[in-house]
Amino acid sequence: QAAAAPAETLLGFKPVAKSLADAFIVPEGYTASVIYAKGDPLFAGVAAFKNDGTDTGYDQRAGDHHDGMQYFGLSAAGQADQAGASRGLLAMNHEYIEQVTLFAAGPTALPRPAAEADIEIACHGVSVVEVAKGSNGRFATVQTSPFNRRVTAETTIELAGPARGSSLLVTRFSTDGTRTRGTVNNCGTGKTPWGTLLTGEENWSGYFKRGSDAAARSAKEIAALTRYGRGVNASSRYGWETAGTDDRYARWDITATGASAAADYRNEVNGQGYMTEINPYDRNSVVKKRTATGRFAHEGAAFSLLKTGKPLAIYMGDDSQFEYIYKYVSDAVWDPADAKPADPMATGDKYLDKGKLYVAKFNADGTGTWLELSMANPLIAGYSTYAFADQADILVNARLAADAAGATKMDRPEWSSTHPTTGDIYFTLTNNSSRVASGSDASKLVDAANPRSYTDVKNGTSTQKGNVNGHILRLAEQGDANATTFTWDVYLFGSEAGAIASINLSGLTDVNDFSSPDGLQFAQSTGICWIQTDDGAYNDMTNDQMLAALPGRVGDGGKVSVANGSVLVDTYVGKKPTSDTLKRFLVGPKGCEVTGVAETPDGKVMFVNIQHPGEGTAVGDLGDPGKYVSQWPSNSGYGAGKRPRSATVMITKNDGGRIGT
Ligand code: FEO
Ligand code: CA
Ligand code: CA
Ligand code: CA
Repeated sequence: QAAAAPAETLLGFKPVAKSLADAFIVPEGYTASVIYAKGDPLFAGVAAFKNDGTDTGYDQRAGDHHDGMQYFGLSAAGQADQAGASRGLLAMNHEYIEQVTLFAAGPTALPRPAAEADIEIACHGVSVVEVAKGSNGRFATVQTSPFNRRVTAETTIELAGPARGSSLLVTRFSTDGTRTRGTVNNCGTGKTPWGTLLTGEENWSGYFKRGSDAAARSAKEIAALTRYGRGVNASSRYGWETAGTDDRYARWDITATGASAAADYRNEVNGQGYMTEINPYDRNSVVKKRTATGRFAHEGAAFSLLKTGKPLAIYMGDDSQFEYIYKYVSDAVWDPADAKPADPMATGDKYLDKGKLYVAKFNADGTGTWLELSMANPLIAGYSTYAFADQADILVNARLAADAAGATKMDRPEWSSTHPTTGDIYFTLTNNSSRVASGSDASKLVDAANPRSYTDVKNGTSTQKGNVNGHILRLAEQGDANATTFTWDVYLFGSEAGAIASINLSGLTDVNDFSSPDGLQFAQSTGICWIQTDDGAYNDMTNDQMLAALPGRVGDGGKVSVANGSVLVDTYVGKKPTSDTLKRFLVGPKGCEVTGVAETPDGKVMFVNIQHPGEGTAVGDLGDPGKYVSQWPSNSGYGAGKRPRSATVMITKNDGGRIGT
């Protein structure tokens, strides 16, 4: 006779208070423990992590800056099984690096030593790591697993979809434009209905150096590079191109030098910026960049609810100020037999390589339109700023196509997630310091979907602060996944509880106030919406956090009037959250971002990623752990050394119940 399940109330836990402690804090009745931190051996036989800046071989270890994450179930026998709750795979992004902590005395200045560049390149990418439940009911990683895998910033990757073979993707490495190397700055994720990972390449542009090569570039190339943040004489984030003449370093310099694209690396930058698909169940499977989903600063990938015989949609944000929200719609219609595919990457070919890409336009009346990004759109075919050659050109330069189409410029679209029963699609709009309430640049003015811009008035001086705290917007399709119209509202506005009413539009209180929503994930089991923060504005009062929400649906939420197209009027109507529908669940350690959340299918075990605890620790602090911004997770008893480490945390409820109850 099984024990009776504990009585359960969604959001029944006691909220966690805001905190500045260097600790990972969960509600009473919950237990949290680190299971996979930066540098941890991923394979048996790899040397223990010393965490003193002398470790190497990160392609065999956990990478840095844990970010978006998905759980893929395994049966007891080790077969793919989406219901598997005792054994599974965590596939997670390693977005970038906490460079100071990787070396004994910090990083060497330019030119970078090859040994340091090798460490940094290997610290990027994706981990697939098996986790299994032990006799104590808690999960641990399995170093002997046949599934464990690291994809890094130099793994060979296939380019798939309409841009495969395009002249825009021809490089010295792939003279037919069918392959590239590496996935970098991976932020949000998605989980396909056929059981693979989609990993979004976000701030990849800055990894490439571009010299003074305007004379060797066409006007179109210059327009595209400028739109994606690579003007002339742009320096690279880490200087990997200075580490040697070998092309694994030289490729990070995209200066046009040779007579043709096949002779240099000018097009390497066009090989980044996609939704990239990885089959976590086969570590030898080829990784594919799905060019049909467009090239931009990708975040999450939220799938529409599955309907047999209907297309699939994927909702995606482009996280930069005044960038857009996109939707990809498959040509193929959903066949439930594909939920258990014999060849997952071939199933990916079926759904992800042929389809239409759209961008969102939000109207002030709560309706919206999906604008198609193709030559069928006369605004794109006739765009005077950039003459698109074909669909490959439109996808590789999706931002330019979205400009042409007249999409709505958003307040930094971060992650997206689909409500598991209503099908409403939620987007975090994390913040936008450049949004203005008035001024001559119409492209930066507040609008109905991005309605807040705060002006700080001190001693008679007004300072424009923009949308400081961010908001969460949601939309409902007017039809199936391939609908071209939708309705939308603002679900939630971030704010400090003590802010004036015209800022604290959602009426947040001490149990649920937050700023800069970023990670967003609906739990499949409970339907709870998990909201994670990546903030700067409220970190004087609290470290970053994760809230649990029961958000209702499109139409319940806020409507904010924007008078005369420029002035915010304090008229928020609709349901505001209460302490029963929005509640703080955890607070992370100092200097961190809380990001990445996945659960076992039974909802009883949660995995959360903590990224860059101790951010801001300087090279000069390395000799004295007392000066580190954070000593987590060593101060909670995990691992050697006191340097702070990004890490995956497992959370369970002490009574065995579901997380968030
Ligand atoms: Fe890597 Fe936009 O968050
Ligand atoms: Ca993010
Ligand atoms: Ca962010
Ligand atoms: Ca971060």
